[in-house]
Amino acid sequence: MNDSNPVQPRPATAPDLCVVIPVLNERGNIGPLIDRLRTVLDGIAWEVIFVDDDSRDGTRDAVAAIGRADPRVRLLHRIGRRGLSSAFIEGAQATLAPYIAAMDGDLQHDERVLPRMFSALRDDGIELAIGSRYVEGGGTGDWDARRAGMSSLATRLSQLVLRTPVADPMSGFFMIRRDTFDRAVRHLSAMGFKILLDIVASLPEPPRIRELPYEFRSRVSGESKLDAGVLRDYLMLILDKLIGHIVPVRFVLFAGVGALGIAAHLVVLRLGLELGRLPFPDAQALATACAIVGNFTLNNIFTFRERRLRGWGLVRGLITFSAICSVGAAGNIGVSSFLFGSAHSSWWLAGIAGAVMSLVWNYAVSSVITWRRG
Ligand code: GDD
Ligand code: MN
Repeated sequence: MNDSNPVQPRPATAPDLCVVIPVLNERGNIGPLIDRLRTVLDGIAWEVIFVDDDSRDGTRDAVAAIGRADPRVRLLHRIGRRGLSSAFIEGAQATLAPYIAAMDGDLQHDERVLPRMFSALRDDGIELAIGSRYVEGGGTGDWDARRAGMSSLATRLSQLVLRTPVADPMSGFFMIRRDTFDRAVRHLSAMGFKILLDIVASLPEPPRIRELPYEFRSRVSGESKLDAGVLRDYLMLILDKLIGHIVPVRFVLFAGVGALGIAAHLVVLRLGLELGRLPFPDAQALATACAIVGNFTLNNIFTFRERRLRGWGLVRGLITFSAICSVGAAGNIGVSSFLFGSAHSSWWLAGIAGAVMSLVWNYAVSSVITWRRG
């Protein structure tokens, strides 16, 4: 082998512990984080996988610069993807280590807890060790009252889907046995930020848990990725855990938007008739147009948030959505008229059957044509 050959021999031992770190624009934190892992994990056969969702700030270069000389440092580069939860899942699936940790890439999680998590799993029969801000000795650092309040509200909401007490189910800092993770992985919702909650709620049996306190640090380099969408993603996760096995959450959102559309339709119709003194067909046409544009806008913002259309895509989307809804309406009238005409059918049953049919049609077709996956 000559000196310029970049290929290094792999270490003889496979890792016992893999730390999965989702990163998005964290260049300044990569080097210091790896240094700290090297220090605290001394004596453990470990590796780290940075799961990067196509950062634009040179994060991957920072990982590669170190990883080329240290094979314990690995990179998973995802393109056209987003989300802390799915990033962790894919990182965990890319390792063979029997113990897997989840940690943020911004130094806010206290890496000194990792060795204690590891020994809880390896020596004490624990299946899931959680870095907790809400047990004795832990804390949320410099959070303002608003963020602390949101976190505590979200924690209470999580009790709806957890069958076992967890003080800090919103934590993104934990270590899990691979076989425990494997028991949950096929049932995960993989939506948004809250992978720990998702895992605990997806396990057929509550795991043996230990919570270890840590103080959430403030961020020094880079910025937080929390935005308004995180709340929507969290509610989607809770709903998916509650009813996802019966009906997809996205369909429920779509139906909710549709119900709002009917209300808006009636309001506009009444205004058109009373205030505008429009003839009925004109008022009805106006109300229909408003309902379609309103539904399109809300579905674009909420229901299909991660496939949101912008610019010219909005125009194209509105055209396909209107066309799809028109076919849905025609089908609605056809089906309900047929049922109403047939023997023993009541007017309201026929009406509901037609409406449900067009709802399912609109949802199924618009999710593959108007908001098709990128
Ligand atoms: N790959 C990937 N994709 N990484 C992401 C994404 C994404 O879409 N969004 C955020 N990250 C990375 C960030 O780069 C960082 O390493 C980590 O995920 C946490 O993101 P922050 O934006 O810093 O989150 P936070 O500090 O507000 O939230 C933390 O607190 C929560 C507890 O309230 C995180 O620790 C959460 O894991 C934790 O649940
Ligand atoms: Mn953070």
